[in-house]
Amino acid sequence: MTFLFNSDARRGAVFADAFAKELPDLPFAMDAATVDPNAVRYLITWTVPDNLARYRNLEILFSIGAGVDQFRFDAVPAKVKIVRMIEEGIVRMMQEYVTLAVLALHRNLPAYLAQQRAGEWADIAQLQAGSRRIGVLGLGQLGEAVLDRLKPFGFPLAGWSRSPRRMEGVTCHHGKLGLEEMIAASDILICLLPLTEETRGFLNANLFAKLPEGTAIVHTGRGPQLDHEALVAALDSGHLSAAMIDVTDPEPLPPDHPFWSHPKIILTPHVASVTQPASAARAVIDNIRRHRAGLDPIGLVDRSRGY
Ligand code: NAP
Ligand code: GLV
Repeated sequence: MTFLFNSDARRGAVFADAFAKELPDLPFAMDAATVDPNAVRYLITWTVPDNLARYRNLEILFSIGAGVDQFRFDAVPAKVKIVRMIEEGIVRMMQEYVTLAVLALHRNLPAYLAQQRAGEWADIAQLQAGSRRIGVLGLGQLGEAVLDRLKPFGFPLAGWSRSPRRMEGVTCHHGKLGLEEMIAASDILICLLPLTEETRGFLNANLFAKLPEGTAIVHTGRGPQLDHEALVAALDSGHLSAAMIDVTDPEPLPPDHPFWSHPKIILTPHVASVTQPASAARAVIDNIRRHRAGLDPIGLVDRSRGY
């Protein structure tokens, strides 16, 4: 029985230490060439290796990240559980990034940066937090956590999910009608949806048109959810005020892409949140213990939903 780690060596070393202490009976390997494929019960990776079929006794395929859209589910035998990463390090970093983005957009930072570059000293009318409505698309581990972190600022908070959810201090919407209600009342819209067939191209001209004039966008979901041309058109027309974008399609963007230099866009290179090895190793070890005890792992992917 072996745990195979297929990611960067720096994080692997932290995982190896944690496994040696916590699960000494489970051999830990980082070099696939040195393991008996039949012994591999657990594999952690970012993408599914082409030779996955050789691990015929695989029980759990762990994603090293929160998203699982990079996995082709049909390449993974049905008996193998697919588990996304749920760990406190990813959550904390996403809370920081979205708070940074919301405050930057709330306080007109893109416009002030443009003014600085133009040598202009002028104030812009400032809304109070109580009048700036925040809407979060996706109320999973990350959507909930960022809403929680935004509470002390006093923004009116709302979130949207597929199934009904409850969160103190947050107006929770779900389903098609709920989406219409939330986007009509969002001055900063944050996307934290997983990429699925339903959410591909979700941030498009049709959705932008339903947002209030002057809404700003934070995109930390996945690149293919955003229609780049529609965003640029909505920013150029003035309907949307600004955007902070962490994920794009493709990544990286080509050198001549308008996002690089658009005065209303702050662009970061998919760094909003990164798996932290110590807390991730703890989460994976807990999940192996759960699995051995006959329980479902935390973060078990529902293949029919796609996340
Ligand atoms: P999660 O726990 O699976 O939550 C997903 C949320 O989205 C759930 O609330 C779900 O609704 C909702 N949802 C999914 N499909 C929907 C649909 N068609 N209509 C309405 N709601 C829908 O995921 P998470 O861990 O919070 O992560 C979300 C995504 O963030 C990841 O998949 C990844 O793409 C992205 N991410 C980005 C970075 C970065 O650095 N930029 C880092 C980590 C993660 P239900 O609650 O009803 O299921
Ligand atoms: C990063 O984007 C992740 O899915 O963890």
